[in-house]
Amino acid sequence: MSTFQAPKGTYDILPADSATVLAVREAISAPLRRAGYGYIETPVFEDVALFSRGVGESTDIVSKEMFTLTKRSSEELALRPEGTASVLRAALQGNLHRIGSLPVKLWYSGSQYRYERPQKGRYRQFWQVGAEAVGVEDPAVDAELIILADDAYRSLGLRNFRILLNSLGDKQCRPVYRAALRDFLAGLDLDDETVRRAELNPLRVLDDKRESVQAQLTGAPRLVDYLCEECKEYHEQVRELLTAAGVGFEDDTKLVRGLDYYTRTTFEFVHDGLGAQSAVGGGGRYDGLSEMIGGPALPSVGWALGVDRTVLALEAEGVVLPTPPAVDVFGVPLGEQARRVLFGAVTALRREGLAADLAYGHKGLKAAMKAADRSGARFALVAGDRDLAEGLVQLKDLTTGDQTPVALDALVATLKEKLK
Ligand code: HAM
Repeated sequence: MSTFQAPKGTYDILPADSATVLAVREAISAPLRRAGYGYIETPVFEDVALFSRGVGESTDIVSKEMFTLTKRSSEELALRPEGTASVLRAALQGNLHRIGSLPVKLWYSGSQYRYERPQKGRYRQFWQVGAEAVGVEDPAVDAELIILADDAYRSLGLRNFRILLNSLGDKQCRPVYRAALRDFLAGLDLDDETVRRAELNPLRVLDDKRESVQAQLTGAPRLVDYLCEECKEYHEQVRELLTAAGVGFEDDTKLVRGLDYYTRTTFEFVHDGLGAQSAVGGGGRYDGLSEMIGGPALPSVGWALGVDRTVLALEAEGVVLPTPPAVDVFGVPLGEQARRVLFGAVTALRREGLAADLAYGHKGLKAAMKAADRSGARFALVAGDRDLAEGLVQLKDLTTGDQTPVALDALVATLKEKLK
């Protein structure tokens, strides 16, 4: 071990686990790519104001968990705590909403940073695959996104997840509800910080996990009772489209989500095998975010699924993803000349698109064969001086143990055939 450890709340993804992580990212993004979402990357840090304005001052994410970087007094940056604000910023900056037709459909994959108290499933650096559909108000887009996330999880073999669905209303009806909730909260016995939070955004208080707060919230006005006709109708259409697509969901009128930009449709994917950090993904509509960050009105919707928690969900369900071995062929040279010849053979195989490795470090036969076994390769190429003198190598099938001599110049063709 070295003097250094990965910082608190972070972890390394080592090769034994990375194949699963890559497979999860691939499985989540595949349905998006099939639905016309284009890949986008944005910087891991942005102007801090993008997040404080976009995600919201009243959220834990902005008020407590942001990793800020100050390089000059005039320039305050923050590591991104989420992807939506950055992706929308990039779409506006790149004029994507003017160049193409709407919605602009984007997907991303990357690390996010939140200074949270670490525990299982909650890290300070974690990974999301996300999708955003920018510029259209249409319940079919909301439904499309939820269906694509559901498809992604099902394709991974996950079954024990649930979709919680709610509507947070729009700029007509939500202010009325906020005012009613604020009045209600004013009559409660809350600590100073919570009172301040209630002033900034009373909906945040509904999300407070503390028993002392939750106990006082029975009897609080409910958002569903305040939704305007348009929001009710919109929500009903999303529900109908999901039902028609065979995607089950639960109405959760208490679902608020931890970010301030949401309007109308909000949803969360929760997994029952994960304990406290049960949300594997979440998202919703954010019709006002573009204007909040200085853009035109661009009603949008999106989600982000947590890769780390999806991996934990697979473990909880005992799902093992098929991960192909790193290499198909492993060279075991016996002697100096064989080393040179097999080095050439391995290079040629790789150039032909086969995955091949070689025993390095002047190993003896036993250690080299062990390395071949460990590599997961199906075949070992064993060559000693006598074989080479005849232009041969021994091809050993590592599953059956069968060994057959193959002419060196027929090696590529033979292996291609066998590995088809
Ligand atoms: P979020 O609910 O904050 O939403 O995060 C989405 C997912 O990221 C969570 O459900 C969880 O799986 C994962 N996640 C969040 N924090 C952590 C953590 N500390 N450690 C491990 N995993 C974590 C958003 O980020 C929104 N941008 C989603 C969205 C996109 N809404 C609209 N478009």
